[in-house]
Amino acid sequence: MIGAEARRIIKEFPLGVVASVSAQGVPMASPKGTFLVLDDTTLAFGDIRSPGTRANLEFNAACEVVFVDVFRRKGVRVQGHGEVVAADTERYQSLIGNWRDVWGDLAARIHALVIIDVAGVRPVSTPPYDDGASEEEMIALYKSKYAELYP
Ligand SMILES: Cc1cc2nc3c(=O)[nH]c(=O)nc-3n(C[C@H](O)[C@H](O)[C@H](O)COP(=O)(O)O)c2cc1C
Repeated sequence: MIGAEARRIIKEFPLGVVASVSAQGVPMASPKGTFLVLDDTTLAFGDIRSPGTRANLEFNAACEVVFVDVFRRKGVRVQGHGEVVAADTERYQSLIGNWRDVWGDLAARIHALVIIDVAGVRPVSTPPYDDGASEEEMIALYKSKYAELYP
């Protein structure tokens, strides 16, 4: 179940790092910035140039995706099974408009959707929260750190 907080994080920070396993059993992690939540148990990203992740999921559908709110330093680990849905399918055609709405012309470069049927969602947070840090403090700290990088 993708709850309200997970939805917020994925909408505001749609860069998910997808962990999948190759046919040789080698773990691979690869960033995808085109994630959308489709419903309470489904999310998906656009395959633009992800041959490795795509091949892995076609061999072994199990995957985990991590999203992080880099200001709050909180995130979610989403476990599930990924299915590659090619552009010449009705399902792709019925869904691709959602990507056009958000990413405009970039959607034309999506040649398949990778649709993840979600089995579990776990929260993840940075250790300073264990010591009593507040969200407001974390946001202020990381706003200033990122402003130093890109003033
Ligand atoms: C910030 C960021 C966002 C990205 N978003 C996507 C994406 O949404 N779809 C995609 O296919 N590739 C995306 N890429 C590119 C792939 O991650 C990259 O081509 C990668 O090497 C593919 O590896 P793989 O074939 O093992 O998945 C993104 C890369 C970065 C750095």
